[in-house]
Amino acid sequence: MRKLVIAISMLALAASAAFADPILDRQALMKERGKIVGGLSKVVKGEEPFDAAAVLTALQALHANAEKVDVDALFPAGSDTGGDTTASPKIWEDMAGFKATNAKYVADVKAAAAAAPADVDALKAQFGAIGSDCGTCHQTYRVKKG
Ligand code: HEC
Repeated sequence: MRKLVIAISMLALAASAAFADPILDRQALMKERGKIVGGLSKVVKGEEPFDAAAVLTALQALHANAEKVDVDALFPAGSDTGGDTTASPKIWEDMAGFKATNAKYVADVKAAAAAAPADVDALKAQFGAIGSDCGTCHQTYRVKKG
């Protein structure tokens, strides 16, 4: 019985450690934003019809996702190694720059959600700004893995 209790508590510990892994947590948030942006991109390209309510819901979800990125908690020192991560050491060499890049992204997403685009052209302008924020940050603060 005692052995079983120990085994169960070790399992619980392993599970909570997995949830507390900042690399997995930040990658999960990135994946989520990738999905949302993928959906919006279909609307921008005209592959899906513009539906103002659905677009607003997606932008609000993107905003909520952006606000969840607590840079200090998700990018602790040393977390460029020790896991399967593409985060570049540049993040920790230039933490102020990384935080500013993240803050600009959060501000642009917040503005897009607040503006509630009424047509596809309005969405295109906002989507362009958001997409370039993704690209700028990835180019500077991510390493490509072959
Ligand atoms: C402020 C910087 C920053 C911004 C802005 C940003 N990303 Fe990222 N993104 C990162 C970093 C750093 C990683 C690498 C995380 C890791 O592997 O630890 C990453 C990884 C990813 C990944 C791969 C996740 C995985 O499973 O490994 C996806 C997908 C992604 N980002 C999508 C996006 C999209 C879409 C946007 C814009 C809507 C965006 N990101 C904006 C910094 C950023």
